Amino acid sequence: MSNKIRGKIVVITGASSGLGEAAARLLSAQGATVVLGARRSDRLQSLADELSGSGGKALAVATDVTHRNQVKRLVDTAAQKFGRVDVMINNAGIMPRAPLERLTIDDWDRTIDVNIKGVLYGIAAALPHMKQQKSGHMIFVSSVAGHKIGPDFAVYAATKHAVRALAEGFRQEVKPHNIRTTIISPGAVATELPDSVTEPDIAEKIRTYYDEIAIPAESFAQAVIFAMSQPEEVDVNEILFRPTKQML
Ligand SMILES: NC(=O)c1ccc[n+]([C@@H]2O[C@H](COP(=O)([O-])OP(=O)(O)OC[C@H]3O[C@@H](n4cnc5c(N)ncnc54)[C@H](OP(=O)(O)O)[C@@H]3O)[C@@H](O)[C@H]2O)c1
Repeated sequence: MSNKIRGKIVVITGASSGLGEAAARLLSAQGATVVLGARRSDRLQSLADELSGSGGKALAVATDVTHRNQVKRLVDTAAQKFGRVDVMINNAGIMPRAPLERLTIDDWDRTIDVNIKGVLYGIAAALPHMKQQKSGHMIFVSSVAGHKIGPDFAVYAATKHAVRALAEGFRQEVKPHNIRTTIISPGAVATELPDSVTEPDIAEKIRTYYDEIAIPAESFAQAVIFAMSQPEEVDVNEILFRPTKQML
């Protein structure tokens, strides 16, 4: 089977840990050039150095996805340095879960800013390049919470439903431009995501749950590889996966 990953220019937001980092590692191992965005530039740079040291091509660009100019700079840098943007993985996200009645309004604002506006800024930054190239692949990271709603995570679920709505609208609109659209919706995957929970009792509950059932982040990276590896005319629109043990 030919390697459809080799030589692809892939921009990943939220690449300093968890799913984004795992995708960067596997994509780089399979020959993609990865352009990494996140706020923790030290971690981003050491990942880029490590991947470059193993023979890959990787570039770190400190990026806060709540600032549209920073997301534009991330994507424009990829295009300037490497000539094109084949894949944009809109992955950066936070999950400060809490019941609505606790009125954690600052968390609501941050969740919307990162999980929805950050994704919109990703579209704004990458779409012009993909239109001009007449090719591209936009990958959106939603969640099981983009399909299911439950107590403690109404706001997170709302943002992940919004990601799926944006992705489906995007998919329909970009038909003339030969752009593929994939939503990846993971269940519980072992990452630093529970650290974004600000309410201590809920954070503890989620950590215990993740310790029991979460699967490795490489599961996400494999889903990215699967979607990218299809023939050009095949558009994998959604991958929903969970730990085998996960009920919801
Ligand atoms: N793990 C799961 O169980 C799971 C399940 C379903 C969906 N997801 C989704 O997967 C995505 C990745 O999360 P993860 O599980 O890998 O958690 P993670 O390990 O906490 O990674 C989150 C990433 O997002 C970045 N990020 C957060 N705020 C940012 C901002 N303002 N600007 C730029 N980057 C920002 C973080 O980097 P910095 O802090 O360095 O900026 C980090 O690289 C999220 O969208 C999450 O909702 C995760």
